[in-house]
Amino acid sequence: YTAELDISDIGKGTYPFYMLKEIDEQPAVMRKLSQVYTDDKGHVTVDDAIIEALVASDRIYIIAAGTSYNAGFASKYLLEELTEKPVELGISSEWGYNMPRLSKNPFFIFLSQSGETADSRQVLVKANELGIPCLTVTNVPGSTLSREASFTMLLHAGPEIAVASTKAYTAQIAALAFLGKAVGLKIDNKKAIDFDVVHELSLVAQSIEATLSEKELIENKVAGLLETTRNAFYIGRGQDYYVSMEASLKLKEVSYIQCEGFAAGELKHGTIALIEEGTPVIALIANNAKVAAHTRGNVSEVVARGANVVTIVEQDIANADDDIITNNVHPYLSSISMVIPTQLIAYYASLHRGLDVDKPRNLAKSVTVE
Ligand code: AGP
Repeated sequence: YTAELDISDIGKGTYPFYMLKEIDEQPAVMRKLSQVYTDDKGHVTVDDAIIEALVASDRIYIIAAGTSYNAGFASKYLLEELTEKPVELGISSEWGYNMPRLSKNPFFIFLSQSGETADSRQVLVKANELGIPCLTVTNVPGSTLSREASFTMLLHAGPEIAVASTKAYTAQIAALAFLGKAVGLKIDNKKAIDFDVVHELSLVAQSIEATLSEKELIENKVAGLLETTRNAFYIGRGQDYYVSMEASLKLKEVSYIQCEGFAAGELKHGTIALIEEGTPVIALIANNAKVAAHTRGNVSEVVARGANVVTIVEQDIANADDDIITNNVHPYLSSISMVIPTQLIAYYASLHRGLDVDKPRNLAKSVTVE
């Protein structure tokens, strides 16, 4: 039934909360982006001016806050592979006061669902003063960050009402995949030529639908694990570490569980001291041959210290005792497929705690103050 969702519909329909509706809308958003960012011949249609400005740069900086910042990290690998340029992440509120030394020809990308985040706008004002080419990737046409940037790419994800951002996160990664593909073609990068972004995103949409069909399994995992705990960890390596950052923010925001998204290999350098009998640890293991076995090793380390572990693993490398299995997708896009179970985990943790999932305490949908 997710295929019939009208992502532009601002109503909640039969959904108990907007957050669940917006999680369900993500397959449709993936398909919408493929329509918007390709022409009828399937060629990627990103503005030439954006492509030229990016090709002329020597380093890409992604500046954002919160979930959008996490989406930037989740897109770093694909952008570097496709554009052949280094990508650096900046926290908006930090760069507003402490902008680091920049490369000779920087290109700034602002990720912002609302396009109104004051911390991000502050950096955009400075970047404009410095004459740096700026692209805003946003879900809101005509928003401040869109109007004041040199360029805009829209997310076309439909209104995102729940405070906890879900479909904007995955849409930002997908939009940057189109940007990376377009730039990669311009510089004749074989990896970009070989990357069929429309086909790969259609597989991602199918992967999301497969996960959405397992809501009951995921809810049952949460019920035993997160209903009463005070703390929890998400761990992963590489892309899975970046997804752990977003998974952790989602859980904190809507369930008020103290959670950290942690580089799995870093635990033994101190933080593992926090693991005690029953501490929930959710391990993300996508099919990345370089690190999957090492993450499994880190899982054994926390189990040995009493942790209550749930594993989220990509199909091809899953074992019989893994808890949540996701379809295999292209490594550039595994941040999208792997985040979906964690969005549902946050949703059910909040629901089972009897909280207002859409309007968590002390939070605003768009933080328009510094
Ligand atoms: C995300 O779930 C939060 N609501 C928050 O972190 C948000 O991502 C952040 O405030 C940035 O908002 P923006 O994407 O509209 O700039």
